[in-house]
Amino acid sequence: MFNFEYFTPTEVCFGKGTVERTGEYVKKYHGTKVLIHYGGGSIVRTGLLERMKKSLDDAGIAHVELGGVVPNPHLSKVYEGIELCRKEKVDFLLAVGGGSVIDSVKAIGYGLANEGDVWDFFEHTRMADACMPLGCVLTIAAAGSEMSNSAVITKEDEDKKRAYDDDASRPKFAIMDPELTMTLPDYQTACGCTDMLMHTEERYFTNGGNMEITDSMAEALMRTVIKYARVLAKEPQNYEARAEVMWAGSLAHNGLTGCGNDGGDFASHMLEHELGGMFDVAHGAGLSAIWPSWARYVCGDCLPRFKQYALNVMGCENKGTDEEIALAGIEAMEEFYRAIGMPTTMKELGIEPTEEQILEMAHRCALATGGQIGSAKALKEEDMAEIYRMAR
Ligand code: NZQ
Ligand code: ZN
Repeated sequence: MFNFEYFTPTEVCFGKGTVERTGEYVKKYHGTKVLIHYGGGSIVRTGLLERMKKSLDDAGIAHVELGGVVPNPHLSKVYEGIELCRKEKVDFLLAVGGGSVIDSVKAIGYGLANEGDVWDFFEHTRMADACMPLGCVLTIAAAGSEMSNSAVITKEDEDKKRAYDDDASRPKFAIMDPELTMTLPDYQTACGCTDMLMHTEERYFTNGGNMEITDSMAEALMRTVIKYARVLAKEPQNYEARAEVMWAGSLAHNGLTGCGNDGGDFASHMLEHELGGMFDVAHGAGLSAIWPSWARYVCGDCLPRFKQYALNVMGCENKGTDEEIALAGIEAMEEFYRAIGMPTTMKELGIEPTEEQILEMAHRCALATGGQIGSAKALKEEDMAEIYRMAR
């Protein structure tokens, strides 16, 4: 195992009826004037926005609103938020939504707490000194941004989707009521389950430092998500299943399943970010479209982990060569994705990139990763292009 640091300062308030405690939590973290940031309108339709405002009013906290965050959130909305918060003298940021809204709030927080253009952080030309305090009310179990140190923003005029990781942006609190997720379209539920599985897999398929205790937690997490994603595909109103995947989504990306390893692989995520930037696909679906091709491309270089995954997560039989068992695990994963309505190729995702677009995505991915990414197998630009080709 390698040395590690584990920092998860986010206070979690989980369960039915927790939404009404939002005002109490903002107060606890010294907010007096709040930006309520949200997406395309689901929280208006479900009545959540009104509940939010009432909770803040009851706690005597002033608020302003800014909706309109789109999936793969745009930089222009971040600029709009920064300007509004400066004008309104906001001192606490509240994201009400999923990863896109939380990430947009994190970027606004960086913009408010630092001089200059906030995009610099996403281009990695400098580091942030601070981030304005923020909290969130989660409405979809997926990205794990509610406990993570990551924000992913798209500079829409350049089709560029970029991540910036910094502990300063970890939310002060996360309110998680699984009932809120019952209004999700089935496709978004499945995308969310895929994303949290992938956050665990990115940390699992590595070639260094693995610990038995971390592996055991990761395997339990993945088995649980696979089990309850299948349940939710048939029973979207099942509270226990909603709760299981909601907590799993947070644990999948708060660092827990990466303790002791070499930092993880994350190639599938970086390959997907280029798909999101160029084709604006849902993040989870982009991941499932890439993963089988990535897995086949790299598994020979990380065979013991792929075998362990096949046996301990996908429940494959311990029969045949290591290669055969590893392949059976990948095939079982594809079967799972199909069962919950997720694509396993880019064609199934609804996009057919040309060779030129593939080369462009590979080039951008290589630039974004400093020329190389991956622990299961270190991938260079030509490997990235080949995986995109296999995923067509
Ligand atoms: O915008 P509204 O109308 O709210 O609709 C949203 C959106 O269309 C809808 N939705 C959310 N909660 C709902 C609901 N609809 C009905 N009922 C509800 N309760 O779901 C759609 C997707 O929302 P979004 O926030 O985009 O989903 P998700 O949480 O999957 O976030 C995806 C974004 O997070 C980034 C992704 O790249 C993508 O941009 N990620 C962020 C990470 C992080 N910060 O740590 C890590 C991830 O790997 C990921 O990259
Ligand atoms: Zn993700």
